[in-house]
Amino acid sequence: MCSYIDRTSCVAVLIVAIDGPAGSGKSSTARRVADVLGYYYMDSGMMYRGVALALLRQPGIREEQEVRKYLAAVPLEVTFDGDVLCLHLDGEDIRPRLRDPAVSAKASAVARLQAVRAALVGMQRTLGVRYGNAPGLVVEGRDMGTVVFPEAPVKIFMTASLDVRARRRHNELVSQGYVSDLADVLASIAARDRQDVERRLSPLRKAPDALVLDTDHCSMDAQVAFVVAQVLEQTV
Ligand code: C5P
Repeated sequence: MCSYIDRTSCVAVLIVAIDGPAGSGKSSTARRVADVLGYYYMDSGMMYRGVALALLRQPGIREEQEVRKYLAAVPLEVTFDGDVLCLHLDGEDIRPRLRDPAVSAKASAVARLQAVRAALVGMQRTLGVRYGNAPGLVVEGRDMGTVVFPEAPVKIFMTASLDVRARRRHNELVSQGYVSDLADVLASIAARDRQDVERRLSPLRKAPDALVLDTDHCSMDAQVAFVVAQVLEQTV
């Protein structure tokens, strides 16, 4: 198996990096690929959402300098429980709060800040070294293949049209019990796309060596099979 070598620790790491915009299907695909391969799964968006929730609870913090200071001491814990990524804020399991629309909007805003990205990229690489060594780690986000794990042996860039992505996210919110309006979801995803693509730091981009997976007309089974095939191809 071709492996990613973390230069700082010289530990061989098996990383599958999946990037793409909101609603492109990367979370469900990444989770299933990890299941099939017996790898760990790291959703980096959860971490940005965790920081966003923490900051929403600190409305007095406005300047990036204050954010940096807060992050140095924030009681936010990111751990694996078995193979499930868990986030605790001051001891509270915050996973049920992370899909709130207010948290989604705030996550894209805080993801532009250098202080936030530096803290989370460091945390992601540490998890990559610790959990990606064996059996492997599927990582998913906006900058996994371009910035966090540029030497990952398998990189996938997932896309889908805005309409399809908005409908998927709307259905997901409804199934989770949120009151959702499709037009609002579409506008919010379009705004997040803009922020993610246009920001100065780690903008959403396809890595030059990533394979594009357009999921507009693709079943979940086919998406998973495509990614798993890329990983298996590395083993021969
Ligand atoms: O993937 P998800 O929608 O949960 O991510 C929430 C937000 O966090 C995104 O809109 C994006 O702005 C940010 N993010 C990021 N880099 C990542 C993962 C997420 O900037 N690697």
